[in-house]
Amino acid sequence: MKTACVLLSLAVPILLASASPPAAPPAMPRPAGLIANIEHRSTMSLDGRWHFIVDPYDTGYFDYRHQPRKDGYFLRAVPKTPRDLIEYDFEKSDTLAVPGDWNSQKKELFYYEGTVWYERSFSYHAPTGRRVFLAIGAANYFARVWVNGAPACEHEGGFTGFNCEVTGLVKDGDNFVVIWVNNQRRRDAVPTDVTDWWNYGGLTRNVEIVEVPESFLEDYFLQLRKGSTDVIEGWVRMSGGSHPVTLRIPELGVEQKLQTDASGAASVSLRAPGLERWSPERPRLYDVELEANGETVRDRIGFRTIEVRGRDILVNGKPVFLRGVSVHEEAPYRSGRAATEKDAATLLGWVKELNGNFARLAHYPHNRNMARVADREGLFLWSEIPVYWTIDWENPATLENARQQLAEMIRRDKNRASVVLWSVGNETPLTPARLLFMTDLVKTAHQLDPSRPVTAALETHYAEPNVKIIDDPLGKELDVLGCNEYVGWYERTPEEADLVTWRTVYDKPLIMSEFGGDARAGRHGGPDERWTEEYQENLYRHQIGMLQKIDFLRGTSPWILMDFRSPRRVLPGVQDNYNRKGLVSNEGAKKKAFFVLKEFYGGIAGRTPGR
Ligand code: GCU
Repeated sequence: MKTACVLLSLAVPILLASASPPAAPPAMPRPAGLIANIEHRSTMSLDGRWHFIVDPYDTGYFDYRHQPRKDGYFLRAVPKTPRDLIEYDFEKSDTLAVPGDWNSQKKELFYYEGTVWYERSFSYHAPTGRRVFLAIGAANYFARVWVNGAPACEHEGGFTGFNCEVTGLVKDGDNFVVIWVNNQRRRDAVPTDVTDWWNYGGLTRNVEIVEVPESFLEDYFLQLRKGSTDVIEGWVRMSGGSHPVTLRIPELGVEQKLQTDASGAASVSLRAPGLERWSPERPRLYDVELEANGETVRDRIGFRTIEVRGRDILVNGKPVFLRGVSVHEEAPYRSGRAATEKDAATLLGWVKELNGNFARLAHYPHNRNMARVADREGLFLWSEIPVYWTIDWENPATLENARQQLAEMIRRDKNRASVVLWSVGNETPLTPARLLFMTDLVKTAHQLDPSRPVTAALETHYAEPNVKIIDDPLGKELDVLGCNEYVGWYERTPEEADLVTWRTVYDKPLIMSEFGGDARAGRHGGPDERWTEEYQENLYRHQIGMLQKIDFLRGTSPWILMDFRSPRRVLPGVQDNYNRKGLVSNEGAKKKAFFVLKEFYGGIAGRTPGR
């Protein structure tokens, strides 16, 4: 727990590419500890239309000598006299929807990477004797936040939430918040400067004001003890001083008073006879109440165990096969960043339509709705941080950044029964520096959450002409192996998959975390004609044949559920800035391969894997 606090309090400043390195901007306060379960606290939403100013030269922040300005746009200044010189005006500026990325909202911002200033005013009654936080679900990539012109906090990382303490900044009546968001790609960032997804910038998730008591329940973790059927274990932690916490699970007749220690922490261990465990077949959730200092935090939690034994993944002690698909956080039908519960329900609804019980959320933590819907619908989730392809492995700041994103991901979703795997990265190279970096992340994940297995999507190679082998040294550290392969698309023909067999040097379960090929929905032709639905269909048929022969295979998440935008995919009339490996097009059209996978999953559902 202590480690989590240290990890969460580190942030790294960014500087825009320019001739001479600008002076370091004044350090902004760091985000406060991430408050657990914000969506069930006393909140006031700031979602809606925000004014924005596009600022490619960071004029609102730096002067022409690259010195941070004292009179930057964060002051939201307005002329007081006709003589005043103010060269910006939020009030008269255009607006963007929040949550939402700027690229898919404004044609002129489609390719834009740089700084955008967001501003909105809000009327507020500042409570006495309570603390107030501004919670931001995500801001891609780097954000600086001011409230009423005063610095609130800054945060790096585009896919995890943060909250700034603004108790001393808000006032009765009119208030305003200004947020500087920059999505400039950087070599030393996480993700690094090359990815295969669109670098959607902006306030991409909910923004809200949260009110809590002076001393409040900041965080908690409740889960079923490994190997048990009815022992609930975990902890609670107060912020702002020790205070008793009452835990209630009414449907189980559980009521327990927890006395927190000087650091505000208390551990939980209680028996709950009659508890019904959560599973995809029966996604049983319980109302849980945590009362402390006049605030009752309500949650819906499913209790289940997840373990790895040899080559098996066990849920509630039973071996499972993860019938899945990979998913990007791309909004169905409209493209751009998905953010709403409706988006989550549509995407995960398609997973269920595939007879699936699993989704790999690629390649970064998705919005909080995904895990909430998966909890309710009974789907397993793989959640990943964007340590993707070729990160700056030897840069300590990059490692710190990755650790922070890992901690933030785990902190938000650790109470979600649906989340069964933490992934520390995707397709990373076989270098010693990378192995150290990734091993550190695996250890950090185990420290932060000893209840879940850790995985990563590895690459593979041929040990013999038709024998693929999984022997990446990182496999030694992982609990579950993930592996990406593109037999039939980036290498060989679909038919040649029939000859390929798989070997591993590890006695561990494998999830084939990516396979597949592109097809433009509605484009038809022979099975050997790339980009057609028939080619993709044929590829899936042969893939399934190959996969069924792998006796240590315990899950699959082909690439990918839905076509998604990528600036690396420019083939006119076919890709048009979309990666077309979806089984569903971005307009919701199901391709022929969708039904091949649906049939396969329908056929293996309920079967014990590897037997
Ligand atoms: C990679 C990668 C994905 C990418 C996919 C592809 O393996 O992990 O992010 O989109 O392959 O090439 O389509």
